Amino acid sequence: MPSLIQFRNTCVRYSDLVTGLADFSLSVERGEFIYLLGPTGSGKSTILKLLYREVAPTSGEVWLDGENIGQLAERDIPFLRRKMGIVPQDFALLPNKTVWENVGYAMRAIGKGRREVRQTIPRILDQVRIGHRADALPHQLSGGEQQRVAIARSLINDPPLILADEPTGNLDPEHSLEILQILEELNSKGTTVLMATHDMMVVNRCPHRILRMQGGRMQKEGALVV
Ligand SMILES: Nc1ncnc2c1ncn2[C@@H]1O[C@H](COP(=O)(O)OP(=O)(O)OP(=O)(O)O)[C@@H](O)[C@H]1O
Ligand SMILES: [Mg+2]
Repeated sequence: MPSLIQFRNTCVRYSDLVTGLADFSLSVERGEFIYLLGPTGSGKSTILKLLYREVAPTSGEVWLDGENIGQLAERDIPFLRRKMGIVPQDFALLPNKTVWENVGYAMRAIGKGRREVRQTIPRILDQVRIGHRADALPHQLSGGEQQRVAIARSLINDPPLILADEPTGNLDPEHSLEILQILEELNSKGTTVLMATHDMMVVNRCPHRILRMQGGRMQKEGALVV
């Protein structure tokens, strides 16, 4: 079976002056948990965005589950995204909808029936321990709680792959570790996780494979922080 993810000499040029990713190659196997580390602007979000095709490669290839997704037609992108859970860097919650409605709206948008939505949401909200705030609006939640709603919304398809962009950004250590615990639980059941982060406390406390990015290039790879 091919790797779940393969980048082959992938480049992203946002403009003549700005390179997002330069000659990046990587294979990710099913069930891995990978941290993308590196300073601001080093290409972490670009890697994740290539996988959900928010961004297309300027050259090189991106393969997911045996499919060359770099070449995917615009109309096929929504179907690609159903195969993954995306937790964006800004949570992108709908401000006028409750926790329940934010998740329900996402499910309805991908064609799930009302009954399935009603049955599924309690399980998903409990999974990320936010069920008790189902009726709250996003602005009534703490940053960590909003982050959990964003994760809940990414789980609606039971995705085999989760792409999490700074899911512990701005959280205190305790709440960061709670988010990590949720991602690790999913990973222990077989979900592949790619997580961009600056949070060395999390990386040290919950060690996994690490890719260090610098200026759009992979600087270093390793299992432990040095
Ligand atoms: N839509 C865009 N248009 C132009 N340039 C962009 C765009 N998105 C990203 N860039 C540039 O590409 C480079 C890589 O950005 P990227 O968002 O991948 O970095 P990052 O490692 O995720 O940074 P951060 O830690 O701040 O989130 C940066 O120089 C950034 O300014
Ligand atoms: Mg980023």
